[in-house]
Amino acid sequence: MVEETRLSTKDFIFPLFLIDGINQQVEVNSMPGIYRYSLDLMLQEVETCMELGIRSFDIFPAYPDNKKDRFATESHRPETFYLKAIHSLKQRFPEAVIMTDVAMDPYSSDGHDGLVQDGKILNDETLEILGKMALAQAQAGADILGPSDMMDGRVGYIREVLDASGYTDVSIMSYTAKYASAFYGPFRDALDSAPKSGDKKTYQMDPANAREALIEAELDSSEGADFLMVKPALAYLDIIHLLREHTALPIAAYNVSGEYAMIKAAAERGWLDGERAMLESLLSIKRAGAQIILSYFAKEFALLTR
Ligand code: PBG
Repeated sequence: MVEETRLSTKDFIFPLFLIDGINQQVEVNSMPGIYRYSLDLMLQEVETCMELGIRSFDIFPAYPDNKKDRFATESHRPETFYLKAIHSLKQRFPEAVIMTDVAMDPYSSDGHDGLVQDGKILNDETLEILGKMALAQAQAGADILGPSDMMDGRVGYIREVLDASGYTDVSIMSYTAKYASAFYGPFRDALDSAPKSGDKKTYQMDPANAREALIEAELDSSEGADFLMVKPALAYLDIIHLLREHTALPIAAYNVSGEYAMIKAAAERGWLDGERAMLESLLSIKRAGAQIILSYFAKEFALLTR
């Protein structure tokens, strides 16, 4: 009765990695227990998760290098496999919440979230590409779009593109405070999406900054974001708490790939109790003020507490 914070399977969004083909299930090296699935097997995985009470999924496609180009064309080409997969997922599970990522990196030969020219990211030119990507994802059936690219002005730009085409009910979960973090390493393995040169520090936030997150939050809410997200989660619990105190919008936190890998690696060596460490970290994220948690632990949590 006096327990202040309780986790529920309903709090989670489960990120899933998608690959082209059929009957493919490949474990991510640096993320034991997490797989890249082809659509047919992803449909089965989503069905299992839905039976466990997980209702929301964030779909990340992995593209081979020969499909990538400077302009991330595959991100909005109507016939491309990830858009068809989102359509199939939504057809098969209309009651599921399907979220997608809006950023160029999985489709970009530069491995950056924005358009690169002469070693620089072109913010405004990137917005046009993000707009096309967002519209294509909405047309495919995505319920929530997650702009993770960190370009300035992208929430407002995407909102206008969606509204102009009648997608007023597709919502935006903005990566409001996304830090330039070492904890994304395993994710970039999963998607083969590491930057080919440079780093993401010119558009992702400086880990030294907390107050800047308030500026980002104000911009995102005024541009029409429906949710604000903090990422990563564990090294940024203070930021989650800060945003929670300063906005009435729902707060989400992304318990990222490196945070998953750390616990798994230590548990495999018998250096800590993986299950307890998982529960304690997830609890801390909710206690800090996130009501929605994107986590690779979602299924494990659901299995443990069903
Ligand atoms: C792409 C994106 C990243 C993650 C989510 N969307 C990686 C990055 O910015 O390099 C990271 C997720 C994770 O590490 O689990 N823009």
